[in-house]
Amino acid sequence: MSPRKANPFKPTAGRMPPLLVGRDGIIDDFVEGLDDGPGAPGRLMCVTGARGVGKTVMLTEFGRIAKERKWGVVDETASDGLAKRLLERFVPDRPSVNLSVKPSLSVAGLGGFSLGEASVSSQRMPLTLREAMGRRLDVLERRKAGLLITVDEAQSAAREDMVAIATAVQHLTREERNIAFVFAGLPTIVSKWLNDDVLTFLRRAQSERLGDIPLDEVRDAFVDTFEESGIVIDGDALRMAVDATEGYPFMIQLVGYHIWRISYRRQRDGKAAENGMSVSEDDAREGVSNALSRLGDAVHGPELDGLSPVDKTYLLAMAQDDGPSSTSTIAERMGKDVGYANIYRTRLIDAQVIRDVGYGKVDFAIPYLRRYLREHAAYIRMSAHDGR
Ligand SMILES: Nc1ncnc2c1ncn2[C@@H]1O[C@H](COP(=O)(O)OP(=O)(O)O)[C@@H](O)[C@H]1O
Ligand SMILES: [Mg+2]
Repeated sequence: MSPRKANPFKPTAGRMPPLLVGRDGIIDDFVEGLDDGPGAPGRLMCVTGARGVGKTVMLTEFGRIAKERKWGVVDETASDGLAKRLLERFVPDRPSVNLSVKPSLSVAGLGGFSLGEASVSSQRMPLTLREAMGRRLDVLERRKAGLLITVDEAQSAAREDMVAIATAVQHLTREERNIAFVFAGLPTIVSKWLNDDVLTFLRRAQSERLGDIPLDEVRDAFVDTFEESGIVIDGDALRMAVDATEGYPFMIQLVGYHIWRISYRRQRDGKAAENGMSVSEDDAREGVSNALSRLGDAVHGPELDGLSPVDKTYLLAMAQDDGPSSTSTIAERMGKDVGYANIYRTRLIDAQVIRDVGYGKVDFAIPYLRRYLREHAAYIRMSAHDGR
């Protein structure tokens, strides 16, 4: 019996895919930014896109490219205390000891039994971050390298953290330091951060909206990835696999993973191994169906959890149609006037859950969401009424 092979596909959030498909344009923009020096557009970038489109993977790839050039890379994910964590990454020991700016003391226990730990006050944050980054740059620039900072899930960042980081990066950019800053998040960051006066600097960021991958590139990626692992995929099986992805990166991994798994298990110890393994139409059909059920848990569920009750009602009204929905019909189904319904239409378009397809019609922007909504309509309607 031959040793078991590892499945080459990676249907896990944030995991580098076996082949990074269809992202040459944005990678070129980033590399150009590094090559063109301080102040180049590609050095300040905002990557947006729906869940599962490949934002985290893009940041990882940027980090890899930067490290290849011996750059320093600091990657963070936004959540409470982002700026402080970032600062600690630059000053691994206690910031209070290493920075010339004296941090304020936060008084945690009023009774005096604890003076609390030393922390950097939020007003001081821009200055200290700037200093700490500046020091790291002093070292890096001596060896002709630079510093890349990436912040993932930026839509979840606290405003003061974003202000602190943006201010620090802005000053260092103005001083022509060798720095690059890339932040990524759901499309809502555009309305959340980029309309904020204090954050004008971020508005200058080169905006990269990640979208679907052209199907011919998906096809090539499937053929290559399967072939490299000793399995042939072609004909109708290949067509089924490619079509099922709808070009959605997470679905590329899910479909690839499940088809590969079924096909490999079926043939591993069978006779087929003599003249090589190949994916049958049945393998493809079953794999696609398994991929679809995983997609619901991994993408549709979390996506809907993040929406308001009325957003969900709007989507349920859309799901009654087999194709694009007329916005006036949706308003009717919701029992509201068009003006009211359009508030939610705009919100859902901003969040890239639906898209405007012209002629007063909208359609789903996330693959298979219609199907998921239909299958789970009763439950979703209930949670929408709970006011969740
Ligand atoms: N360009 C791509 N080509 C192939 N697979 C990709 C690509 N980008 C992302 N993926 C895969 O899609 C999934 C989601 O990627 P991730 O970066 O976590 O998305 P996001 O951060 O936008 O939610 C992962 O399994 C990843 O391997
Ligand atoms: Mg991500």
